[in-house]
Amino acid sequence: MGQSKINTCVFPVAGFGSRFLPASKAVPKEMLPIVDKPLIQYAVEEAAAAGLKQVCFVNGRHKQAIENHFDRNFELETSVKDTDKEQLLTGINQLMDSCSFASIRQVEAKGLGHAIGCSEPIVDHQPFAVILPDDLCVNPGGESVLQQMVALYERYQCSIVAIEEVPVDQVNKYGVIDGEEEADGVFRVRTMVEKPAVDEAPSNLAIIGRYVLTPDIFKLIADTKPGKGGEIQITDALMKQAVEGRVIAYRFKGTRFDCGSVPGYVSATNYCFEQFYKS
Ligand code: G1P
Repeated sequence: MGQSKINTCVFPVAGFGSRFLPASKAVPKEMLPIVDKPLIQYAVEEAAAAGLKQVCFVNGRHKQAIENHFDRNFELETSVKDTDKEQLLTGINQLMDSCSFASIRQVEAKGLGHAIGCSEPIVDHQPFAVILPDDLCVNPGGESVLQQMVALYERYQCSIVAIEEVPVDQVNKYGVIDGEEEADGVFRVRTMVEKPAVDEAPSNLAIIGRYVLTPDIFKLIADTKPGKGGEIQITDALMKQAVEGRVIAYRFKGTRFDCGSVPGYVSATNYCFEQFYKS
């Protein structure tokens, strides 16, 4: 198991984005821009830069704008052709040309584990990655977070979750791990708990929205009962691999912005404007 190259990146995007209402009422939260680019484009760019050229959206009804963003719009292209606006589409067009895109419906909102499980027909029996586009990760001048994780997968050949230290009073918002630090920032996971109470958390090492998963996860998800919030949690499915020593938690190099919250979204906007746009 786990010898193959990682080609597919799964993007669970079916959620309502209710933390960001009313902005997300008619516009998918993944289409909200950070400066002039929607969040989902940053996420797909990160996957493509890590060599994952097969994109799989796990989508819900009313969110076709996500698929449309990665499709041609000939009327628009014709109207900007030979104007100074034409080059504004260069980045997205190059991204579309370099990747293939598939979508699959999550017909019921039954949790992140369930959403990832929906991608099985596209992922097939290969290791794959998952990006939660809410978590915008940057590492200027260095490898992206997913690139770092793919390199780690080549070494460890098991599932990998990205982690960061969060303030102790924030642990109840995340999956939280505990484990043995085998190398600098690389933990062999012993236990993982979805959104524990602050006084019951095994540590303050929180899972953020980047995963590399081995394909046996699909069977484990299928056998996972609803957990926290009555939802099928990826954390619970991964715990079954962790008890066999088959999950690595990686304290990544870079910065994460929680763009599902207003403060995180504003910080990401300010950061990206300063880094990439100000001239
Ligand atoms: C999900 C996962 C959680 C993880 C988080 C990272 O939670 O269930 O374990 O820490 O993503 O963003 P959500 O934020 O979707 O409730």
